[in-house]
Amino acid sequence: MSKTINGFSKLTKDEKINWLIENFFEGDTNTKNILSQYWNENKIIQDLHDDFIENTISNYYLPFGIAPNFVINGKDITIPMAIEESSVVAAASLVAKFWSTRGGFKAKVISTTKIGQVHFMYEGDKAELQNYFTSKKEALLKTTEDITKNMRKRGGGILDIELRDKTSELANYYQLHVTFETVDSMGANFINSCLEAMANKFRNDDIHIVMSILSNYVPECLVRAEVSCKVENLYAENSEYLAQKFVEAVQIANVEPHRAVTHNKGIMNGIDAVVIATGNDFRAIESCVHAYAAKDGKYKSLSNATIENGIFKFWIEIPLAVGTVGGLTALHPLSKLAMEMLGKPSAKELMEIIAVAGLAQNFAALRALTTTGIQKGHMKMHLTNIIKGLGASEADKQFLINYFENKTVTHNAVVEAYNNLRK
Ligand code: MEV
Repeated sequence: MSKTINGFSKLTKDEKINWLIENFFEGDTNTKNILSQYWNENKIIQDLHDDFIENTISNYYLPFGIAPNFVINGKDITIPMAIEESSVVAAASLVAKFWSTRGGFKAKVISTTKIGQVHFMYEGDKAELQNYFTSKKEALLKTTEDITKNMRKRGGGILDIELRDKTSELANYYQLHVTFETVDSMGANFINSCLEAMANKFRNDDIHIVMSILSNYVPECLVRAEVSCKVENLYAENSEYLAQKFVEAVQIANVEPHRAVTHNKGIMNGIDAVVIATGNDFRAIESCVHAYAAKDGKYKSLSNATIENGIFKFWIEIPLAVGTVGGLTALHPLSKLAMEMLGKPSAKELMEIIAVAGLAQNFAALRALTTTGIQKGHMKMHLTNIIKGLGASEADKQFLINYFENKTVTHNAVVEAYNNLRK
């Protein structure tokens, strides 16, 4: 029997679920119980989530946690994080506290330029195309005036339009490469609307527009976050030796792509969690950040560390195109709350906070990796997940948590301890 269907999006939620159960769950009605457990009782909230995407049948929760005690540019900040990985919020909180007594984090936005491109094919004379572009440039700007009006009032708009010859890479391929300032919005819709209007104005019988779309690669939308302190203040014992190991760990990630990917994954643990909590687009951030990590032709560490004149310095420089207005930021009640928690930041301030969250995660990971190893802390945090997976009662859970207080947590060790308890 075919499991394809026409007009699925027109069905009601119940009809969609029934179709799913009949076709993929052998009629098991428990499926609906699981889905409905995650429905929100408040119809307004549920309707909101239903409308975010098509064919919503339930809500997929992520834990929404907070990491207090961050000091960023002298300001006390509690960072909201939406993430399922057990150790991330704990690590952020620990590192925030650690650096709060060592001068805190310093962060600074370096640039905020966004990019969009009209990709087109042209077979004619290059000089003629250049002349045509020069003669049209003003008209291209003019044609977007209605779209850019509000953005210009807020201090943003189109910064420049360039004609780029890409024919050495692909026959007949050119671009209008457009730069934008979108102030506090991520600006995707704004940029795409401007590009489509320009493409319509630019096309002629010889210019074949292929597509008009923003680029999520924004190497000129850059933020830097940093911590530093005297080497002797970094560790309770063996500070010089351990600080040196920390720097070596970063150097390894700079030359070895296998390590760099895991190193950067740890950074993204912090970044994605804040990006999601604040209703921003983590796929855009991810793809951009990784392209940036490979900008020199080789995938490298996003962070850097040095020891100079007895001072340990650890920093990150990353592109982050985020918004604090528009999109999901005010629509999702929890994103809105996250923004309020952060003191309703500007996009620049949010860039700084997110970069700090990434640097903090990286610091936690490297400190653990170059001292005790990652498993000790990680498995401690994972302990409750393992216990829950075993279906342990609350009393057994408490017993096991106490039992493993001073023991190494492994999956097998927990299962064994649980089975002994049940005997
Ligand atoms: C785990 O989610 C992240 C780490 O692997 C990062 C790292 O190795 O640097 C701990």
